[in-house]
Amino acid sequence: MTKDEQYRQALLAVRSLVEDESDEIAVMASVVCELHHRFERFHWTGFYRVTAPGVLTVGPYQGGHGCARIPFDRGVCGKAAREEATQVVADVRDLPYHIACSSTTRSEIVVPVHDRAGRLIAVLDVDSDEPAAFDGTDQRGLEEICRLVGSRLG
Ligand code: SME
Repeated sequence: MTKDEQYRQALLAVRSLVEDESDEIAVMASVVCELHHRFERFHWTGFYRVTAPGVLTVGPYQGGHGCARIPFDRGVCGKAAREEATQVVADVRDLPYHIACSSTTRSEIVVPVHDRAGRLIAVLDVDSDEPAAFDGTDQRGLEEICRLVGSRLG
């Protein structure tokens, strides 16, 4: 199956999971579970929620323990939140500001999530132990899924 097809199927599954749900934690927990178990190269999949101005707090996730809080001025997640733009990192070892929750992480993608009012409410963070695991197809697919998540919230 092509990566495009994987994301087409993931979007259909996520749409079905969230169509009647508006609780933030329930939506996020279902989406993380679906993505983490659908994509084998996703070794950590989780949301960091905006819980105070300039502060991300870990939300639903799958994989090893994730750090609890990330200020907007730190890490790849903080950069995604500050810039409200997706970050695709081919090799985290090239980024001095990368926060390593696992020593085996090699690549990462972080996607901002906006609610119905357009407010930044979270970022979706996906780590892989494979180098350069994420490309434009992942970015488009995960951004579409994050738009769907955000459309249910706020
Ligand atoms: N790598 C992230 C931190 C979250 S742990 O990977 C789950 C960052 O640099 O912001």
